[in-house]
Amino acid sequence: EKGGWDSFMDKEIHEDPAAVRNTLLGRFSAQGDIVLDEVRIEPEVFRAVDKIIVVACGTASYAGMVAKYAIEHWVRIPVEVELAHEFRYRDPILTPRTLVVAISQSGETMDTLMALRHAREQGSHVLAICNTQGSSIPRESDAVLYTHAGPEVAVASTKAFVSQIVAAYLLGLYLAQVKSTLYADEIHEVVEQLKAMPDKIQWVLDNVSSTVEAAAKRLVNSRSFLFLGRHVGYPVAMEGALKLKEVAYTFTEGFAAGELKHGPIALVEEGEPVVVIVPSARGRDVLHNKVVSGIEEVKARGAFTVAVAEEGDPDAERYADVVFWRPQCPTLLSPLVDVVSLQLLALDMARLKGYDVDKPRNLAKSVTVE
Ligand code: F6R
Repeated sequence: EKGGWDSFMDKEIHEDPAAVRNTLLGRFSAQGDIVLDEVRIEPEVFRAVDKIIVVACGTASYAGMVAKYAIEHWVRIPVEVELAHEFRYRDPILTPRTLVVAISQSGETMDTLMALRHAREQGSHVLAICNTQGSSIPRESDAVLYTHAGPEVAVASTKAFVSQIVAAYLLGLYLAQVKSTLYADEIHEVVEQLKAMPDKIQWVLDNVSSTVEAAAKRLVNSRSFLFLGRHVGYPVAMEGALKLKEVAYTFTEGFAAGELKHGPIALVEEGEPVVVIVPSARGRDVLHNKVVSGIEEVKARGAFTVAVAEEGDPDAERYADVVFWRPQCPTLLSPLVDVVSLQLLALDMARLKGYDVDKPRNLAKSVTVE
């Protein structure tokens, strides 16, 4: 069943490229327009949407956080991302023009199911992004956009995460299309960039795995890790931190790089591993430089720094102790490659510690209680 891999987690990380490719499949017209035939919500309803609320838990919520940056940029409507278990209890503002997007790999997460029930009771439309055909969450939603990552067996979610980002991006581009907030050419350009991502992810698997393994060996005895990122790198940092917690039982914290001086820098001491997601130096100079100065600050306090950075970034090379390279890609798509190195890091750390990576202690694949 594991097809030659020694764990499902290993196998499923190596299926990241296919998960992205298959989730894109069949969702475009010959002209490159987005076609979401399976989504049974009328275009008029989409056109009227004035707010999106993503409800999800864990890894799926981080996919939602990534999508917020893209959808707000493309569609110019506010996107909130809320942990499903917090959502219902704060009396959220829901109207028929609110689109609630429930993201779930299993489709059986009770917290997410209860959140979407609440949203529908309030008259909002609910669209599910789900990996499991016929599960409860899509059955109870107004519409579903399936991720085609294939069955995910390992408890820690990997290939589902990249496919959730892709599905949420397709939804964003579709909304931009029906609301005419992007020109057709702009949509086609993003579609082409998305289609190039499976090969870029494969590049990471082929070229970065050995660097990650060496870093895992170097850091295996570290008691805690910090992960930081900005913009779309922020949810990637959160996800990297969660993966390492779940499978290697390492105490981790993921946070927005800008928060460093507002508190977390107090944690940095000699040898503390700090993983930093560095934005491309092209285009978004401001953020790149700010994140690089974050690396300098923690390094000055003795941190062992790991950068996830664009190939050839001279600052990453200069300031980081180890670099996990990413091939050049647009900033909004970079989470699809950056997370792969962090998934591998968690896997390698857990393996070196001799843990059962597929069935971490205390965790279940789907959490069917509230
Ligand atoms: C992380 C993980 C959990 C799930 C969360 C939501 O590796 O597995 O954080 O992402 O429980 O599960 P789904 O997506 O099935 O709703």
